[in-house]
Amino acid sequence: MAEQWSAKNPYMTSITENYILNGEGSRKETRHIVFDLGDSGLDYKVGDALGVIAENPPHIVDELIEVQGWDRDQTVTTHKGERTLYDALKKDFEVHMANKKFVKSLASKVVSTGMNISMAFVSRQRNDDAWNASDDDARPTGLKASVPSNDPAAQVEAINADVKAVEDYLWTRDYVDIMREFEVKYTIEEFMELADKLKPRLYSIASSHDAHPGFVELTVGIVRFEYNGRARGGLCTQFMADEINTSGAPIGVFMSPTKSFVLPEDKDIDIIMVGPGTGIAPFRAFMEQRVHDGGKGRNWLFFGDQSASTEFYYKDTIEGWVDEGHLYKFTTAWSRDQEEKIYVQHRLKEHGKEVWEWFENGAYFYICGDKQYMAKDVHRALIDIAIEHGGMSEADATHFIEKTMMREQKRYLRDVY
Ligand SMILES: Cc1cc2nc3c(=O)[nH]c(=O)nc-3n(C[C@H](O)[C@H](O)[C@H](O)COP(=O)(O)OP(=O)(O)OC[C@H]3O[C@@H](n4cnc5c(N)ncnc54)[C@H](O)[C@@H]3O)c2cc1C
Ligand SMILES: NC(=O)c1ccc[n+]([C@@H]2O[C@H](COP(=O)([O-])OP(=O)(O)OC[C@H]3O[C@@H](n4cnc5c(N)ncnc54)[C@H](OP(=O)(O)O)[C@@H]3O)[C@@H](O)[C@H]2O)c1
Repeated sequence: MAEQWSAKNPYMTSITENYILNGEGSRKETRHIVFDLGDSGLDYKVGDALGVIAENPPHIVDELIEVQGWDRDQTVTTHKGERTLYDALKKDFEVHMANKKFVKSLASKVVSTGMNISMAFVSRQRNDDAWNASDDDARPTGLKASVPSNDPAAQVEAINADVKAVEDYLWTRDYVDIMREFEVKYTIEEFMELADKLKPRLYSIASSHDAHPGFVELTVGIVRFEYNGRARGGLCTQFMADEINTSGAPIGVFMSPTKSFVLPEDKDIDIIMVGPGTGIAPFRAFMEQRVHDGGKGRNWLFFGDQSASTEFYYKDTIEGWVDEGHLYKFTTAWSRDQEEKIYVQHRLKEHGKEVWEWFENGAYFYICGDKQYMAKDVHRALIDIAIEHGGMSEADATHFIEKTMMREQKRYLRDVY
């Protein structure tokens, strides 16, 4: 029965708990969200991810229909079947962010006035604070709105001239912004041909099914930002935060099982888990499973985020595991609680001697969270530890971490995004 649920045929369920994990004054909105698995027959193991099917924010769909002068009740046929235009835009396409194909299509919509233009591109500054709705000063600047309106055709050509320019342009504008900027009209068919089909989002499961039978739990960082005076953000995170409350509103889910990000079969093997930010999710699940299974393997968790006062997710649970001896070691890295940044890789290196002893003793090493920066820096820290405490050359240390531990022994495992 459980096999019938998939991205194409999700199990429609409801959320039973949905609350913010951050303390007051946090720059972030990270939520703990619990889904009821009801009569689905769905099962999961720790390390698996949950697929979630979301919808576009209603205000964006309304604005899009309004700016194009479309009829929201018109019946249209999409890849999902027949429905009203409103439903099609809300559920079947990613209309919360514009795509490159659409920017290219502007060339056939705008008319040249034959006038010269001057354009000022300013690279967006991707700053980690870009994720934070409350951090106005730190937002990416995007392509400054200094594109003069004298020749739309030349403007479109300049934007489409190189990939970076298109990306910068799209960083601060969605369909509504672009349609307003160039005063262009599309037929519904033209638009549906250009827009991306709505895709599910994956989330690392933060619970063990043995500890929470019939439920699946997530730790979700909500994406919000604002450009051109309009509230915008991530499709799925906003949907879960703003539209799906605990009143029983339906939401589609499916399981995305992992083959590799799994606990050691031997419960007596030690594990080291590194999961800053929302990277904590699978390790809450791992700990619940290890407590349930009751092996002799020791557990060491590295966790951190901006501040202990506002981002200490699952504090009581974690401290309970420490007090009860389930968590042998708990090492924190609060990046903004002092002048200099302290990250998990700094803590790993500080504890390098002991980390190396655990490796020599056969420990598994797990990492979850940011792929772009954190995972790379932690990877480097592991190589440095092998050099310093394993007495290896750079080449041997790299070989040990990347080939021996990761590929051959499969005890360096990653869930990064
Ligand atoms: C295996 C896996 C596990 C994951 N586990 C988790 C998890 O446990 N918890 C979790 O929170 N996430 C997790 N993610 C990430 C998650 O899948 C989504 O990518 C994330 O929640 C954002 O989805 P969204 O639909 O809200 O945003 P989207 O609609 O996909 O938008 C995100 C995009 O918005 C753009 N963007 C972001 N900020 C700005 C800004 N300020 N200005 C302009 N553009 C901006 C960026 O292009 C970004 O890629 C996981 C991903 C994978 C692949
Ligand atoms: N797809 C999306 O739209 C979306 C939304 C939210 C988050 N994310 C991404 O999801 C991942 C997790 O986000 P999150 O908010 O849970 O946590 P996060 O942004 O990864 O932050 C967690 C902690 O990691 C620190 N950090 C920053 N750079 C680091 C580095 N190079 N090495 C080690 N630690 C570093 C942060 O410090 P400082 O902040 O003090 O630098 C913070 O203390 C990240 O990839 C984040 O960019 C994506």
